[in-house]
Amino acid sequence: MSDRPHADLLIENADRVVTLAGNGPVANAGWDDLGIIEHGSVAIAGETITAVGRAAAVREAVTVTGESCVIDARGRMVTPGFVDPHTHFLFAGNRAEEYGMRVEGVPYQKIREQGGGIRSTVRAFREATDDELADAGRARLSMMLRAGTTTVEGKSGYGLSMADEIRALRIIRKLGEEMPLSIVPTFLGAHDIPPEFDGDRAGYIDLLVHKMIPEASGLAVFCDVFCEQGYFDREESKRILLAGRDHGMIPKLHAEEFVPMGGGELAAEVGAVSADHLLVITDEGVAAMAKGGVIGVLLPGTTIGLASGRWADIEKFRRGGLPVALATDCNPGSSYTVSQAAVMSLACSLLKMTVPEAWAGVTRNAAAAIGLQERVGTLETGKNADCLVFSENHPAAVPYRFGQNLVDFVVRDGNLLPSFD
Ligand code: NIG
Ligand code: FE
Repeated sequence: MSDRPHADLLIENADRVVTLAGNGPVANAGWDDLGIIEHGSVAIAGETITAVGRAAAVREAVTVTGESCVIDARGRMVTPGFVDPHTHFLFAGNRAEEYGMRVEGVPYQKIREQGGGIRSTVRAFREATDDELADAGRARLSMMLRAGTTTVEGKSGYGLSMADEIRALRIIRKLGEEMPLSIVPTFLGAHDIPPEFDGDRAGYIDLLVHKMIPEASGLAVFCDVFCEQGYFDREESKRILLAGRDHGMIPKLHAEEFVPMGGGELAAEVGAVSADHLLVITDEGVAAMAKGGVIGVLLPGTTIGLASGRWADIEKFRRGGLPVALATDCNPGSSYTVSQAAVMSLACSLLKMTVPEAWAGVTRNAAAAIGLQERVGTLETGKNADCLVFSENHPAAVPYRFGQNLVDFVVRDGNLLPSFD
């Protein structure tokens, strides 16, 4: 008997295997950081990658039997599964009419004053049954998976009451058990002040800190805050994030999207894993994040959803040596997309991120933005067998062929998901 591990699944002879191999997140990623292996293979045993390398070397490193499933990836490219580190995928209804208004020039903030915005989705969420919410979430997750996302972060934040926020987290967790992709739940009770607390924001923050956070902490990994003018200011955000941390939830922030509030500095101060949006962050904020090991998450889908013509300045992050991740921000208000490939197109063509920066952003750095860099985001021996087989063979083809799903096969935890066509 050979002591070489049995390959349950062998994806072989790919024109390129894009491994992204390396420790932790990477700033200013270049082509070398993609860790490309030409004419390469990936062998999987159980849920884990057991060998990655040149095709001949992988054949020698593993045992292939009649039981092995072998995919011929000639002419194709193999990459890590996409990690989407910022989404609000669990919601009811949609706000298509608000998008129509924004395209005609009505700003996001103005729509909120007219009764739209987050609060309109809160109304829809509260009226929806558990089954309706789960069905809507499941449909979006299926689309994400088809588009190549194998790990996704998902936030509460459209319930904004004790019962509805806990309901959101429970449904998110249930979908994670049921669906073939990994879901990391985040508590975002501080997404907005609910209408019943109009005129009593202190009352809602007390409820968050004393009641909701202790309850949510058993269900969520991260605690997030919408730190923004008109939502939660810096002091309020700090109080909420520290309360979350005291209960074992790791801080994460929506920061520096519209008005600079020192959100980068706050993220570093509270030990956040990431600060997300960052359109108006200062060089000082970036420096604080880099020093504190906080990942910057950019959400260029919001440029589309908000029809704003504004996006983050990638040069600031390059100058500051800050690792940057990319996410869909999938939500009914500012960015209703499920596709990390679409986000890469926006990142490259609007933000002028390089192709390697965009790839690091949706894999290796995205994993670090949700604390999972040891398990996912790269193709390396011992990591979770989450990988994608693309019909194209060059990493630039994914952002270049915008709006098209080029994923032929998705493998998650070693399981080959049913072919999509
Ligand atoms: O990340 N900024 C706060 N949350 C979302 C928008 C949510 C909504 O409009 O429903 C975001 O952009
Ligand atoms: Fe968001």
